[in-house]
Amino acid sequence: MVPLLEAVTAPHGPDRYLEMLNPMWSLREVRAKIIDVRQTARGSVTLALRPNGNWRGFRAGQHVAFTIEIDGVRRTRCYSLACSVYCPDGLLELTVAAEPEGVVSGHLHSDAGPGAMVRLSQAQGGFTLPDDRPEHILLISGGSGITPVMSMLRTLCDDGFCATDRAGRVTFLHYARSADHVAYRDELAVLAAEHPGLRLLRAYTRGSGGELAGRFEPTHLPSLGSDAAAWVCGPAGLVDAVRALWDCTGISVPLQTEQFTAPAAALPADDGEPYGEVRFTHSGRRVANTGATLLEQAETAGMNPQFGCRMGICLTCTSRKTTGSVRHLHTGELSTEPDSEIQICSTVPVGDVAVDL
Ligand code: FES
Repeated sequence: MVPLLEAVTAPHGPDRYLEMLNPMWSLREVRAKIIDVRQTARGSVTLALRPNGNWRGFRAGQHVAFTIEIDGVRRTRCYSLACSVYCPDGLLELTVAAEPEGVVSGHLHSDAGPGAMVRLSQAQGGFTLPDDRPEHILLISGGSGITPVMSMLRTLCDDGFCATDRAGRVTFLHYARSADHVAYRDELAVLAAEHPGLRLLRAYTRGSGGELAGRFEPTHLPSLGSDAAAWVCGPAGLVDAVRALWDCTGISVPLQTEQFTAPAAALPADDGEPYGEVRFTHSGRRVANTGATLLEQAETAGMNPQFGCRMGICLTCTSRKTTGSVRHLHTGELSTEPDSEIQICSTVPVGDVAVDL
């Protein structure tokens, strides 16, 4: 049926006609309406979203690619879901930190309001709780890295995992600048009061009043028995420090990591002012090289290439560069090979480049 509809409505496709009737309607795409926007901590905004019927659900800890149109240009970013997998009201929740230069996060903080329509990917990522749960779960997060572990914690609480001090145990260790910067601060306090098996440890790097102080250090870890597992999500510095501790001390407790910033950028060679032309050979579009990533230049040209993390990790955006040179943003490496596969989210053109998009 769907292929038939697609054939009948070519070249625009059925969605173009459906969205004239209702912007939430689509045959395959997940679209969601913003139901609520609220500030949950200093520098963080929380969105409640109602998805259409194409949404297939998620596992606690997963993320989505979130697309919103701003000034006529579709912008996409990856955000983790913060809600429990049971989301009783059917609403999904995302909490987004304001980035100083962030086009999308800035828009969500200042301009987005209820009623706006956004597009979502299906849930992605392997940073999830196992069905078979260990006795002691350690959740470590920093800053806006709290969102996926908040989803895990809410799910565990809804499951009754840490409802008594004889059931499972959860240690929730969170790093923030100060108490005002902790998203879900009030809810965390309530959950800790209601769940004897939940231990809340807040570490403030620039404020007082937490159970711990300063950045992550080995003494912050609770004792971990043999039936324990740990998850850490946050900026690269926190994730690297936890991983290094595991590597150096041979802690045998399984550790899953997720970082929400790309690896530190290597200093690229000085290519001077951007020059040359970027040709997207499949679509026939051409743009003057602005020095932005190939993904951003393609989007500015009105294209919608596939992508996931936008950080050079998931490989979803891999495309064929047919000619020209590109520099990798994180390694600084120059790729001059024709007909090579590149990640367009993390490479910038150096001079004339042709990409098969
Ligand atoms: S979008 Fe994930 S590697 Fe480019």
